[in-house]
Amino acid sequence: MSDSERKKVTLPVLYEKMAQGTPLTMVTCYDYPMAYLVEQAGIDIVLVGDSLGMTILGYDSTLPVTMDDMVRHAQAVRRGTPNAWLVGDMPFMSYQPSDETAVRNAGRFMAEAGCDAIKLEGGAEVLSRVRAITAAGIPVMGHLGLTPQSAASLGGFRLQGKTAAQAKKIVDDARALEEAGCVAILLELVPDRVCRLVTERARIPIISLGSGPDAHGQLLIFHDMFGLYPKFTPKMAKKYGDAGKVIQDGLERYVQEVREGVFPEPERYFGMKDQEYEELVRLLKEEDER
Ligand code: KIV
Repeated sequence: MSDSERKKVTLPVLYEKMAQGTPLTMVTCYDYPMAYLVEQAGIDIVLVGDSLGMTILGYDSTLPVTMDDMVRHAQAVRRGTPNAWLVGDMPFMSYQPSDETAVRNAGRFMAEAGCDAIKLEGGAEVLSRVRAITAAGIPVMGHLGLTPQSAASLGGFRLQGKTAAQAKKIVDDARALEEAGCVAILLELVPDRVCRLVTERARIPIISLGSGPDAHGQLLIFHDMFGLYPKFTPKMAKKYGDAGKVIQDGLERYVQEVREGVFPEPERYFGMKDQEYEELVRLLKEEDER
């Protein structure tokens, strides 16, 4: 699908799809070549996730990621996917300190990277941030359930909302985020029936990451989908291809061909005219004899 065929995905387009019961598609994306492919596939929502700290930068968590990291990657993704609804993920400590910090950093995603919205993690504790960013004219996506920036206090990367009391808090937080102005909410790793209850009560799109089929849309992490994150693949991630293996096999063949003198083949390099070459040799010889 070319750029001219695809219409820009806007918030009204997402709401229209939700109203019609058309499932929304969402993936994470971190750079230009990936974004280009995502655009061709017609994905609705693209998240430049702070998961890039792990998938791209090789950290053990998302915590060291900075706003500068995020803006740089969001700019590259925007160049690759001009039409997806682009969400910039607020990294750790870019919104926790104060409403003012949150608005300033959210504004960077919009002004410097051309994002359509930002995402931040948390429920009741971030309502004031959501209100402040929304008041600045910036659409906010909420994020409940497993929120990786608080993995330490959640007991690691594990299912959230397993008990009735924990699940009730997620349902309440979702309603509070919507009332504070969130335009969509991501539910990560909560039981399917909790996701269904949140979705049934919501007037905004609910997106599921590992939270079952009953949301308005689904999210997957690009590197999990294509075997590009070597450390582990979570249960919720379905592999749609093994690009990691394709690349690994290619690299091993390249090493072998260079060592055996198979690469480069004659059609991959350039020669020069005999007359010019002979003149060059003569010039060098003349210089050497001086
Ligand atoms: O950073 C990210 O990719 C995310 C997803 C895990 C939802 O926030």
